[in-house]
Amino acid sequence: MNFIYCTAIATLIFANCSFAQTTKKKNIPVKKVTSVVTSAEDIQNGKALIQKSDCMACHKTDVKLVGPGFVQIAKKYPAIEANYTLLADKIINGGTGVWGQIPMAAHSTLSKPDAKKMVKYILSLK
Ligand code: HEC
Repeated sequence: MNFIYCTAIATLIFANCSFAQTTKKKNIPVKKVTSVVTSAEDIQNGKALIQKSDCMACHKTDVKLVGPGFVQIAKKYPAIEANYTLLADKIINGGTGVWGQIPMAAHSTLSKPDAKKMVKYILSLK
């Protein structure tokens, strides 16, 4: 009696597994991996770098403070390599005239790779 019960369960589990596998193959298409521009790790590091720096004295995440909110910046610039470079240079050199007449201070001690990670975090906020 017990043995038959177990066999039935085992059959069910087996049937279930093979069913799951066929549906998986059918329904989940393999996504082509195109060039990876950024990673979750870069974005996490960028966030940490921003918190350690003076950025939050002038920026808030969602609204304008002295400078534009990070979400506003993310809406203006798509998260692509050209913009990472453009905005990393702006953070390092400072500048004015894009969002108004108040200038952003230069951050000349910041390395370009670190500035880029900060931008990757900002542009991930949509
Ligand atoms: C002294 C205040 C101040 C500090 C500190 C500051 N910002 Fe800014 N930021 C601004 C202002 C003002 C603007 C708008 C500049 C403009 O209109 O061109 C701006 C603009 C930006 C932009 C958009 C630039 C563009 O051309 O659209 C980014 C990205 C940015 N800040 C990131 C940062 C990061 C990252 C830090 C920290 C390392 C930082 N900011 C620190 C005031 C500041």
